[in-house]
Amino acid sequence: MVTNFERTVVKIFQYVRSCCRRNTVLKIFVFVLITSIIYLKMASLPATVYRYYGIDGPNVGLTTTNPNVFTLNGLNLTITSGTIHYFRVHPHYWRDRLRKLRALGAVAVETYAPWNLHEPYKDVYDFGDGGFEMSRFLDVVKFINMAKEEDLLVIFRPGPYICAEWDFGGLPSYLLADGAKVRSTDPKFLSRVDKYFGQLLPLVTPLQMANGGPIIMFQVENEYGSLRSPEHQYMVELKKMMDRYGVKGLYFTADSPEPSLETGAIPELNVLQTANFKMDPELQLATLRQLQPDKPILVTEFWTGWFDHWDKPVHEVFPALEYLQKLKTILEYPASVNLYVFHGGTTFGFLNGANNDDTEESYHPDTSSYDYDALVTEAGDYTPKYSATLQMFRNLHPNLYHPPPPPVLPRTLSLSLLITQELPWTQIVKQLPEPQGVLKNRKDFIFMEDLPADERGWKQSYGYVRYTRGLKVTQPKAKLRLTGRIRDIAIVLVNGKRQTIILNDGMETTQFGFWASQEEELELSVDPGDYTLEILVENCGRINFVKTLEWLMQKKGLGPDNQMSLTGGEFTSGIDVTGMPFLADWVTSLPGWQDRVTVGEKAAPSLVKASFGLSSDKISDTFLDVRGWKQGVVYVNGFNIGRYFAGGPQQTMYIPAPLLRAGQNTIIIFEHYFNAPMIQLVTEPSFLKPASSQ
Ligand SMILES: *[C@@H]1O[C@H](CO)[C@@H](O)[C@H](O)[C@H]1NC(C)=O
Repeated sequence: MVTNFERTVVKIFQYVRSCCRRNTVLKIFVFVLITSIIYLKMASLPATVYRYYGIDGPNVGLTTTNPNVFTLNGLNLTITSGTIHYFRVHPHYWRDRLRKLRALGAVAVETYAPWNLHEPYKDVYDFGDGGFEMSRFLDVVKFINMAKEEDLLVIFRPGPYICAEWDFGGLPSYLLADGAKVRSTDPKFLSRVDKYFGQLLPLVTPLQMANGGPIIMFQVENEYGSLRSPEHQYMVELKKMMDRYGVKGLYFTADSPEPSLETGAIPELNVLQTANFKMDPELQLATLRQLQPDKPILVTEFWTGWFDHWDKPVHEVFPALEYLQKLKTILEYPASVNLYVFHGGTTFGFLNGANNDDTEESYHPDTSSYDYDALVTEAGDYTPKYSATLQMFRNLHPNLYHPPPPPVLPRTLSLSLLITQELPWTQIVKQLPEPQGVLKNRKDFIFMEDLPADERGWKQSYGYVRYTRGLKVTQPKAKLRLTGRIRDIAIVLVNGKRQTIILNDGMETTQFGFWASQEEELELSVDPGDYTLEILVENCGRINFVKTLEWLMQKKGLGPDNQMSLTGGEFTSGIDVTGMPFLADWVTSLPGWQDRVTVGEKAAPSLVKASFGLSSDKISDTFLDVRGWKQGVVYVNGFNIGRYFAGGPQQTMYIPAPLLRAGQNTIIIFEHYFNAPMIQLVTEPSFLKPASSQ
């Protein structure tokens, strides 16, 4: 139906068009009129961050002259920001997560850069184009530009040390083999930082605010003040290095005010001191104010939740009400804030870090899930913290336009998968190269980091190391003795049969073969005879946070300080060593898969495979339920989605939809102890929670 009104409008439109065709002056007039109407309409609307703050081309950027509030191009700015690590979120979802952050009323996104991913092998760099397993996650320039497209400013934390519950705090493991004293002025360390910054910083300095880009702030190092013996000159050298690579600022350091802020700061270089904390906001803010009375307050890390450890079987939860109360105290102080984290994502692959209890012996690896009980879950769902924060953040920016929160993606994929193929351990090790030269018939063990480089000059950083030795057992109940600590789990096999216990929960890590044990004996259940002894050692992730610097520099596997002896038999050869990095390419390309005949304990360690077809409309995010399994690592269509341990708090593993495809999909599992017959894909995550939070 065409109404009279519509008919009239069309007539007028046709008349104007015919006039314009004939009359150039009228044409210009109509153009100017329409443009003005659009402009006036836009000027009356709430503005974007970039338009409101006049960020268009080079400008003065963020300043700290007013002690009560930041100033961006002369206008007050309370920074409301949230952390998203681009290397923990599938790039297909970067925009979705950034939009969710902007809709919250945040004006900035904060991220670290992980050195050990950007330089996966010494002098080999990867910023999205390296062709390695994690390459697709590493286009940091694209992420920063996308933040700008989504109307967000950027707080950039280049490291070199980033903590972040990330292997070795983001440091590349080759530094351990080089004997570099990390986080210090040791030239062996600083020269490597210089080379890395020489690659990273020229990519991001064009994106700093001084050049019209989105980056408003750069951090120098990270929580350096939490070390017992910090070396102040190191911070000075780092800042100067960043200057040399063209960083203009605004520079800041971040530490917990109580008790470590002052020692991590470099105020003499006019570097802003900022605070990291979760509890006691009044005390923390007052301490920062006292240390730095003349500058605005920024909480760089207000911890919205916490991360989980494998060996502590309860999911960390920070109740929303308590979170909200603390956030309110911060904002009313008044202070600017970055939510660490807004959205945690996943620590894919072998890249998780670990903590200790401030003792050299203790060790607690972090889970693959980095859900963090944050505002947006690992799979991108909103939590109660999100809606509660939204009003607070938006109220701080009444002049800004805030887009509506994007819808949550549906999760529909749930499937029971039968494991149909297996590759027994004895077949897997047949695919390994023969140990050569320094790795054959050794007197002592050698750490993963000290294994020789391959023909390309690349060294192993993650995964497993396999030590083998000839064994002659002369008496029943022969005992193997291993002194020194194991980094981190050793599975002992005799002729391919596992001798060490199944790890059921974190409490068992004091037994033979686990990190908390030392000088333990293992009774071998074999009859007298000649055998091959195998010790498969898993690197469960390098410690990322310490107060005593030396404890950060921990090599993995077994080394010269581990001694092995035998009662009731003798060794018939030296030790052969083979690196087993379990790279996804290698695992996926292994030949010799056979139809599955064994299940349970006998079938482990081994690789197993499930294949399944999907039509494109069936593809969605999903979770792999690991209950019923024990411990291992999972590859989805040739991508390592991380480790699992059913005795820990994380019961499901996130599989983002972009890892799946229409057609045939393959899941490969390396299980250490017990191969279950089935595996489930489920739509909801599951964590073991403390009773009080139900
Ligand atoms: C900017 O902040 C300062 C300090 O809080 C305040 O005195 C001033 O009124 C603010 N200016 C505007 C335009 O809101």
